[in-house]
Amino acid sequence: MPVDPRPAQLAIPAPVLDELEAHGLPVAGVLDRVEERLHEQVGSSHAFVDRAARYLISAGGKRFRPLLVALAGHLGDPERAELVDAGVIVELVHLATLYHDDVIDEAAARRGNPSANSRWDNTVAILTGDYLFARASALSADLGVEVTRIMADTLARLCEGQIREVQGSVADSLPDEIEALDPTLEHYLEVVSGKTASLIETSCRYGALLSGVDREGVEAAARYGWNVGMAFQLSDDILDIASEHEQSGKTPGTDLREGVRTLPVLYGLEEDDGELAALLADDVPDEPGVLRALEILRGGDALQRSRQAAGDYVRAAVAELAPFGDRPVVTAMTRLAEYALHRAG
Ligand code: IPE
Ligand code: IPE
Ligand code: MG
Ligand code: MG
Repeated sequence: MPVDPRPAQLAIPAPVLDELEAHGLPVAGVLDRVEERLHEQVGSSHAFVDRAARYLISAGGKRFRPLLVALAGHLGDPERAELVDAGVIVELVHLATLYHDDVIDEAAARRGNPSANSRWDNTVAILTGDYLFARASALSADLGVEVTRIMADTLARLCEGQIREVQGSVADSLPDEIEALDPTLEHYLEVVSGKTASLIETSCRYGALLSGVDREGVEAAARYGWNVGMAFQLSDDILDIASEHEQSGKTPGTDLREGVRTLPVLYGLEEDDGELAALLADDVPDEPGVLRALEILRGGDALQRSRQAAGDYVRAAVAELAPFGDRPVVTAMTRLAEYALHRAG
């Protein structure tokens, strides 16, 4: 089977990867094998299933989670074959959650293309996501009970986070029967921990575990991953306000349209003279309202304060690497944590 090159669109910028490799930490080999295996794993004899399942893989994406598996693999023996399959598992699970997340968020764009739900419809997007989960489970079964149990627990946390985000959204369209939660800072951080930090934590846990690192080291790598994951989602929420579609491949303001109070919005409301609160008051704001809310948020201190909060998580992540000493892998993982903060897409 021909090797599919990693799609270049919306990828981790080459200088970041080059810098990691310059620290004597080859990751490109593992990532290329992950890419090949991803395409192998999602194949279906049903032409339309096959097409829908490859749709987002071919569209690009950063492959941030497989990269973390590969990098954390350098904490132990980076040649272990299981690292490639673990990279495939985390990307397949991530992909499945993207298909589902765009249905939940009614998002129009993903990875620079129409999202699967807008390209086809919600049913296709949901079932394709389920199909990818199934493929990830089969691969995980080959890696054993521990790897499978870790992913099962991760997915439970991810779903809890997504559901709690819905419960905290202020959209009027939410049925009364759904128990509402106050969109406080505490609620926001709990949501982010579940929906995003859980899988990034697991990517680092897999890398350390499968490369043979001892228990304490695995836990430190996992804590590093959780903190990177928190910073990664805070950055994403900043990008939803601050960046254009060409940069992120997504539609700016999607969180506002869904009534989701992300960190920049919570901070923006703190410094508000009443206009932002009125715009976001009850139901989903109309398009001029979204644009005005974006303008207010871009003009105040909310984005800067959010960047500072994300920076605190990056510092906490790096502090978890102290027990590993002064090794090239520690420098590379530090760089990657910083990338989570400064990424543009
Ligand atoms: C998007 O993840 C969903 C979040 C958790 C913010 P990525 O930013 O890793 O998306 P891709 O894989 O590069 O498209
Ligand atoms: C990402 O949250 C959560 C998952 C995909 C699990 P967002 O809703 O902020 O992610 P994007 O912005 O759609 O990528
Ligand atoms: Mg979304
Ligand atoms: Mg987002």
